Order: sequence, then structure tokens, then C-alpha cells
Amino acid sequence: MTLTQIDFQQRRTELAQKMGPNSIMLIATSPVVYRNRDADYKFRADSSFYYLTGFAEPEAVAVIETFESADEYSYSLFCRERDREMEIWHGYRAGVDGAIEDYDADEAYAIDLLDEEIIEKLQHKQQLYYRIGHDAAFDTRVNAWLKGAENAQRKGADSPSTVLQLDRILDEMRVIKSEQELELMQIAANISADAHMRAMQKVRPNMMEYVLDAELNYIFGQHGCVPAYNSIVGGGKNGCILHYVENNQMLKSGDLVLIDAACEYQHYASDITRTFPVNGKFSAQQKALYTVVLDAQYAAIEAVKLGNRYNEPHKVAVKILTQGLIDLGLLQGERDALIEAEAYQQFYMHGTGHWLGMDVHDVGVYKLAGESRMLEEGMVVTIEPGLYIAPDDESVDEKWRGIGIRIEDDVVVTKNGPRVLTANVVKNIEDIEALMAQPSL
Ligand code: GLY
Ligand code: MN
Ligand code: MN
Repeated sequence: MTLTQIDFQQRRTELAQKMGPNSIMLIATSPVVYRNRDADYKFRADSSFYYLTGFAEPEAVAVIETFESADEYSYSLFCRERDREMEIWHGYRAGVDGAIEDYDADEAYAIDLLDEEIIEKLQHKQQLYYRIGHDAAFDTRVNAWLKGAENAQRKGADSPSTVLQLDRILDEMRVIKSEQELELMQIAANISADAHMRAMQKVRPNMMEYVLDAELNYIFGQHGCVPAYNSIVGGGKNGCILHYVENNQMLKSGDLVLIDAACEYQHYASDITRTFPVNGKFSAQQKALYTVVLDAQYAAIEAVKLGNRYNEPHKVAVKILTQGLIDLGLLQGERDALIEAEAYQQFYMHGTGHWLGMDVHDVGVYKLAGESRMLEEGMVVTIEPGLYIAPDDESVDEKWRGIGIRIEDDVVVTKNGPRVLTANVVKNIEDIEALMAQPSL
């Protein structure tokens, strides 16, 4: 399964219609990021740029222009020219001919011509759409182009009188996933689920966290994938550090290990967390806390449905987590009063999820007119409740300290209820213990 130029073209057509007549849209891909001397970070195209173009080379800018009617539009791609020597060193380039033949551009230009060509194009448009404030260097260039077009006005040309935030339109398109996008996300989720199950089978007491991390990367790499975000492999109290990425400590028998790791497939992300015992058996305290988180997660997933607002799963999770904390003696008081006072934040200090798509924390507003927005078919959210008992929290019995648990799945809103993309990876205590007892792959 792969997206075709027809899919990218449909997106451009939809965007052009939303832009309205006599408008122009500019979007640049990500910059290449320097890592250290003569070494860059591996390039990854900007998600919104790729969403509209399917073009994964660095140094590229896409332009859509509408005319008297927005049904009529032109798509231009500015990209690197073909260059024999550069291609020997750095690999194949589509060049301007490839931009037209393989990427369906109506016009293509060498990226070096961007400044002069854009000023020319701006002179004929009334509205400019671009991602205001996304990249300070690009903002500066756009300002200079607008100035250039304004100067040309003196010679009788027009120039945009209105600058609009492109993200407002594009993010709303991206927040609803097509069937093809969901298929790609399902593939990413399946690969990530395999990686988690391999980790459950490979973990051993005294293994280093990075060795377990390598087991995940082994599966991602077998599918030509990379992690969608920095993997978290946290043993024991490291599971209480929400964004722990050092992954350089030894995993100890008797501790849990929390893994938040998943790959992206063809620019679409997955996002999975599982927490399991290093020695294959949950202790009584671990079981008790894990059961509360799992109950909260199941109930929150059930709340991912049409008719609910985005924040309903969080409300459901907080209720169950707070009740569970009371039942285990970690919080004292009456449930609703504790929720009102946000007492649960001592042990649960993050939200229950986020949009998921091309970006792991995907685009899309969470509130409309100040209220949590309604869930719609094709939206994808993560559901990731957790409990984290700080190792130095003297307000609770010692036996609980240093336990960190999170369980995270990826869920699609459908008219038939929640569809869990990450259902392949086990999460019930009995299933985890049974899988861990099997010989490793
Ligand atoms: N892996 C990032 C998150 O769960 O939000
Ligand atoms: Mn997440
Ligand atoms: Mn995650």
C-alpha cells in the first residue's frame, strides 16, 4: 500500500478550493539539520509539505495559485536541479523534469530561482497563504518577497493585501484521515506491535535498557522504518520520567520496564506504550496499579466515539484512576472532590492522548470556540493513561514508590465505535505473562 500522485493531487485540489480565487499558497519542506562536522541528521520531509506533494527531497518549496475561480489552479514545485557530481555524492534527484513527470507539477523551477519567481507570482494575487510563524527564516524571506511585490506595484502590478494562516486550512484537512491513510497507520501500528512483543520476549534481568531498545529497532529496521519519536525504555523508577530517553541503565529483576516506542511507515506514525515486568511476573503492588491503569484505558477507549467530545476519554480515565488511587490508599477523600481539586495530578500529570497522524503529536486544534471539539469519523487519537509514583514521594507507603506505568494505544473514531489500530500487542496481565514465558523469537 502506498499513496499515489492521485491522492496528493486530490489534496491540492481540495486545498485550492478552500483558498478561494486569486490566491497563492507557499509551503517549504523541512530544513536539513546539521548534527556535527560533515554529518547531518537524516532528512525527513515536513509532514504538511509531503501531504500536499509526496515529494521527499530536501530543499523544496511548493506553490499553489488559484485564478478567477478556485476550480482552476496551478501547482509549481521548486526543487534541486539535477547535478551529476552532487548525485554521485548524495544520490538521485528528481530535478525539474522529474517534478513535472513524476510529481505532477504544472510548472517546475530550480530552487535557486525561488526569490525572483515568487515575487513575480505574488504580483498577480490578492491573498497569500503560508505557515505564519512556523520557521523564522522562512518568515523573513516571505516578508522580503511581499516587499518586492509591493515595490513592483508602482509599475502597475497587484500584490496580496491579505496574508492568511495556511495551517488553519491544512491542519483541518489532516485531522481527518482517509481510508488510505488509515491503512498506512495500520501498517505502522502492526510493525510497532511486533516490536513491543519482541521486547516482552527478549527482556532479561540485568539487560541494559539500550539493548532492549535495540530489539525494537531491529523490528523497525526489518521493515525499512525508523522510530516516529525518540524511544523511551525506562526500567523501574525511570518509568516515572515522562520523557526519559537516555535508556542507559540496567533493568532489574522485580522492576517494571516502560516502553513508549513506535515507528513511522511512509510518513505515518504509530505511538504505543506497554509496561511489563523485567522478570516476567508482576508483583502484587505492580498488579494492583497496573489493573487500575488498564481499567482506565479500556474505559477511555470506549469513550472514543461519535457524539463525544475530544476530552471525554480523559474525563473517564481520571475518574477511574482517582477511584483506584483511593481504593489502594494512595489518595484519601471523596472521588469527585479529589477530581475537582486535581489531586490525581500527584500521580497522573499528563493528558490522556493527542491527535496522531503524520506527526506523532499530530496537527489539529483540540478546542473550537473555547470548548473541546466533537469527535468525527476518521480522527485518530492515542489513549494513554498512566500512574507514576515518584521514588521520593514520602506521602505514600514505600512499597508503591518508583513504580511508573503507562498503557497507550492508537484509536480511530468510526461510525461503528472505536477501532484500535494497535490491538495486536497484548496488554492484559495474564496475556503479557503468558507471552513472556514463551521462548523468544
Ligand atoms: N510518544 C509520545 C507520546 O506518547 O505522547
Ligand atoms: Mn502518545
Ligand atoms: Mn507514546
